[in-house]
Amino acid sequence: MKPYRAVVIGAGIIANTHLQTLHQNGRTELAAVADINRSRAEQLASNYAIAAYTDYKEMVAAERPDIAVITLPHFLHKEAAIWCARQGCHVLVEKPMAMNVQECFEINEAARSSGVTLAVGHMQRYYPAMVKAKQIIESGRLGRLIMMTERRWGDYFAVNRPAWFLNKAQSGGGIAINIGSHSVDKLQWLTSSRVTKVKASLTFFGERGDVEGSANLLMQTESSITANVALSGYHNVMMNEMDLLFTDGQLKLEGSHKLWIGDKIRKSLEPVELEGEPDAFQAQWDDLLNAIERGCEPGISGAYGQSIAEVVAAIYHSHESGAEQAVEGAGSSAV
Ligand SMILES: NC(=O)c1ccc[n+]([C@@H]2O[C@H](COP(=O)([O-])OP(=O)(O)OC[C@H]3O[C@@H](n4cnc5c(N)ncnc54)[C@H](O)[C@@H]3O)[C@@H](O)[C@H]2O)c1
Repeated sequence: MKPYRAVVIGAGIIANTHLQTLHQNGRTELAAVADINRSRAEQLASNYAIAAYTDYKEMVAAERPDIAVITLPHFLHKEAAIWCARQGCHVLVEKPMAMNVQECFEINEAARSSGVTLAVGHMQRYYPAMVKAKQIIESGRLGRLIMMTERRWGDYFAVNRPAWFLNKAQSGGGIAINIGSHSVDKLQWLTSSRVTKVKASLTFFGERGDVEGSANLLMQTESSITANVALSGYHNVMMNEMDLLFTDGQLKLEGSHKLWIGDKIRKSLEPVELEGEPDAFQAQWDDLLNAIERGCEPGISGAYGQSIAEVVAAIYHSHESGAEQAVEGAGSSAV
């Protein structure tokens, strides 16, 4: 079968991971990369002996790709995703899908009316540790899942973070939309259940920009599982852990690659052996190719990406109102 011709739009920090993924994928022909910053585009293109462009529209017109990967700042996701869809390209757009729910809606309309497949890059669910955790939840061997707690702490205001991330007009917000959207995805995916209610408390103590630097989130799913997600982006803090607590045991995820289990036969937490595709970006890409081939929705569809934007909107509303916020649209789309 002919390989899928693919391009990458944006040659910033995460772009090389996508380029490498596409380059290594047996069903893909990596064609070109574009960035308004010529030297970034040329530098990355030279690593893979592909073409470099400074105008992504010109690139798509010239290269006629089957799929475009969008790794642009958040405020440009909508424009690029809609434009690519209208050119007949399938799209993988990095997370968060867009700045807000309305933008997600418009992207989904464009993908639907153009008949293309669109996936959103919430790739953390493809980590083997996450896949295994979901299998264990669904097996019922630890009883009923009661709650999730997640702690992600790290320097959000580090000097090497591109400035647009810290400008709300270009990013849509700070740690809550950027890191919190991964947390919402994991909660919804692991529990196969949408978040329906949120109580959020944010702080704005970053020395640069106008976005929140911490978020304390209490969320509830439609299956009545509660989650407490603590995100802190201030200085000299380090943590990346998630605990899943059941009626008969516990799972602990340390970083992205270590899973521990506690149950009635073990005296202490023990490591769980992991299987499957170790590269989450490769697994995400294969999921999109399979969806295109089979004519079905990818694991992380545009409708699902919009469901995350709906929770993120509730997070910001809850912080502003000081009250618990119902998630608009919850119940209207499947997880
Ligand atoms: N999945 C993950 O784990 C993960 C990790 C990092 C970033 N991301 C997401 O990836 C996206 C990009 O993040 P990043 O850290 O790579 O940002 P970045 O700022 O490093 O890269 C963005 C690039 O887009 C380019 N650009 C801006 N306007 C352009 C235009 N009109 N045409 C072409 N290029 C343009 C910039 O010059 C820059 O090189 C964001 O959505 C971010 O949230 C995801």
